[in-house]
Amino acid sequence: MTDETDETARPAAADADAVRLYGPEFDQRPKDFFERMRREHGPVVPVLLEGDVPAWYVIGYREVNHVTSNPGLFARDTRRWNAWDMVPENWSLLPFVGWNPSVMLAEGEEHKRRSAAISDALDAVDRTELSGSCERIADRLIDEFAGDGEADLGSQFADRLPPMAMMELFGVPESEAPDMIRDIQHVAGSDENAVPAYQRLQESMRRLAESRRARPGPDVTSRLLAHPAGYTDDELISDLIPMISAGHLPTGHWIGNTLRLMLVDERFAVTLQGGRGSVAQALNQVLWEDTPSQNNIGRFAVHACELGGRAIRPGDMLILGWAAANADPQVQPPAHGSGAGNRAHLSFGHGDHGCPFPAPELAEVVARTAVEVLLDRLPDIELAVKPDELRWLPSFWVRRLASLPVRFSPAATLG
Ligand code: HEM
Repeated sequence: MTDETDETARPAAADADAVRLYGPEFDQRPKDFFERMRREHGPVVPVLLEGDVPAWYVIGYREVNHVTSNPGLFARDTRRWNAWDMVPENWSLLPFVGWNPSVMLAEGEEHKRRSAAISDALDAVDRTELSGSCERIADRLIDEFAGDGEADLGSQFADRLPPMAMMELFGVPESEAPDMIRDIQHVAGSDENAVPAYQRLQESMRRLAESRRARPGPDVTSRLLAHPAGYTDDELISDLIPMISAGHLPTGHWIGNTLRLMLVDERFAVTLQGGRGSVAQALNQVLWEDTPSQNNIGRFAVHACELGGRAIRPGDMLILGWAAANADPQVQPPAHGSGAGNRAHLSFGHGDHGCPFPAPELAEVVARTAVEVLLDRLPDIELAVKPDELRWLPSFWVRRLASLPVRFSPAATLG
């Protein structure tokens, strides 16, 4: 992992043995895929993204740690990329790589200023109030299907609770919330509605910023506006979108993947019948085994250097394999199997651009409350299909189920 002096800027990952990074093996059995990659290519794999665009896929725990701990060597601004001329028109990955002025792609002092303001604004959230508000939202959602005796816990519960919680946290008026949630989902889905949805989202955030500036409230948006970091409205708009989206989408998948684990793994059967016992343990285990955040683009090499035995050139793209790093036998010896109790996973990223303190803690409050309320209300819940009939949605970036059908004894509503 030493610096070298060769500064020639051309992508180095376009090797003859580069692996095409898409296909059914990865989608349904990522652990087998990681194991094969590690065996055949080592911790840093030359890969081709859609359109055969080259990149490095970093799958070693030690190497992901090294890349994310050294922003001077591996930086975040996507304009550093040396393969922009290879990107096809309408490339489906553009939403992940296109530059925008948000904190996620900022570097140096600019990043520090905004990241500190975000942490302060999030840290002022009262965890007990957040949990109470998630309990109310969970009860409202469960009331909608409690009498039916069956539900899809993905679309009817896990995907719906975090966005509702985020809207309250950021002070979005109830009348605006459904449109905003729909637009965030279009943007994340990178479908044909993504561009108009992103434009609408910017307008909604502008209205939110104006209304909070005029009438500040006890919400994250008002706190960011009042912060000495001196946020402008434009900066606020470009940071609110990733914050609200990041708070909503992976948290929903985390809830869904945890409910799945508790329903298919007999170690959690007692909890299902007996209450809240090991919800925190199941949430942590999911972050090791089925993290919603599978991979991120990423970082861009600032200088030529060596990483995991590969010669990286300036401007090369590195994809960070959080899930693959979590599955690295160096941190998870097969003999130990489960990661429960050990929080050294990389599912919240790492380093300056990792999920900002205290966002992981807030996400956990949301996820834990959601699962606990569901188990309290529907204690005899069980899968309505065989475990191996559950399907993961095909995505390299996130791990989430296509659906989570369950049945239970019809229960009374609270509302
Ligand atoms: C309240 C909930 C959450 C909020 C507000 C939030 C917000 C953010 C923000 C603003 C960043 C960008 C940080 C930066 O570039 O300086 C980030 C990064 C990240 N978040 Fe979160 N997040 C939340 C929940 C989650 C969850 C549930 C996961 C996955 C389990 C997650 C995984 C990540 C990862 C992996 C990164 C690092 C991306 C990278 O290094 O390229 N976040 N988050």
